[in-house]
Amino acid sequence: MKKIAVLAGDGVGPEVIAEAVKVLQIVDNKHRIGFDFKYNLIGACAIDAVGVPLPDETVAMCRSCDAVLLGAVGHPRFDRDPAAKVRPEQGLLKIRKELGLFANIRPIKSYPTLYNASPLKVKLLENVDFVVYRELTGGIYFGDKGRTNNGTQAFDLCSYSVEEITRIARLALAAAQKRRQHLTLVDKANVLETSRLWRETLSKTLSDFPDVTFDCMYVDNAAMKLIQQPAFFDVILTENMFGDILTDEASTITGSIGMLPSASVGNTTALFEPIHGSFPEGAGKGIANPMATILSAAMMLEHFGYTAAAREVTAAIDVALQKGIVTAEINPTHPKSTAEIGDFIASIIAEK
Ligand code: IPM
Ligand code: MG
Repeated sequence: MKKIAVLAGDGVGPEVIAEAVKVLQIVDNKHRIGFDFKYNLIGACAIDAVGVPLPDETVAMCRSCDAVLLGAVGHPRFDRDPAAKVRPEQGLLKIRKELGLFANIRPIKSYPTLYNASPLKVKLLENVDFVVYRELTGGIYFGDKGRTNNGTQAFDLCSYSVEEITRIARLALAAAQKRRQHLTLVDKANVLETSRLWRETLSKTLSDFPDVTFDCMYVDNAAMKLIQQPAFFDVILTENMFGDILTDEASTITGSIGMLPSASVGNTTALFEPIHGSFPEGAGKGIANPMATILSAAMMLEHFGYTAAAREVTAAIDVALQKGIVTAEINPTHPKSTAEIGDFIASIIAEK
């Protein structure tokens, strides 16, 4: 039995989550895992219902579950108001912090069936398969922030401790060992003291992972390399904000941000979510790509150790891609709806 906290959130969140749950239920019928889905609020919908983006009840429910499956948070009405005191995104940052999810794992790969959807040349897309380990509960996101000089000056502090760096570095290095044994630390050590601490700490951690080749790259250079030679990378390890920016950039390699899943892990309950946002313009239209969320559900299955079930899900996604069962951002002339894609993937899993 596995208890899953489902936080659908805002915008297209509920639509993509519905398809992931549909797929998980089919997996459950076959493999008799016994999923128990428990729903709660996060984001703008929580602000509307109870006044805060992450109610205590949601946190307590997540803590009592084996994993969290999250859709997306965010609503444009808050973006238009820079002075807003409560924002949906605070809910996302808070759940990461509350659950201690210090490592955000974002796999990026190119699918031959999607080569045409990518702005990059096909020869650059071949053999692209890397994973970003983004630190998720520290850095500039969580440092002191505020205003001075009567509000005319603002600051956001970026700070990291050896402990924060070591724990994610060990996870990333262990992942590299199981892959192509190559880790790239992305930083800005020519300017930032925190980056220098990342380098120093990583060099000390490396002795436990002698088989891993290690290099460092400045973030500006990495931003260029991701487009010029994405197949260079195997495991990228980086701090919170660099990871945020580079993974959005990396999504263009795959061809659609609607394809990229993520897992956030720490010491307790893990969380799985697509890397895309709430796509408010698309909400309620059935046009959102549910594959990133379904792939996140596959990462959850893998995390639980249901490797065969996870493979069935990713294989079904491959079939959908091969048959052109995709949403409009990938195939604008013959798009399928969010639910049609979920139905198709579920049917493939059920048949096998
Ligand atoms: C992400 C998102 C979030 C982040 C936002 C919504 C706060 O962009 O998960 O990448 O910056 O971490
Ligand atoms: Mg982001």
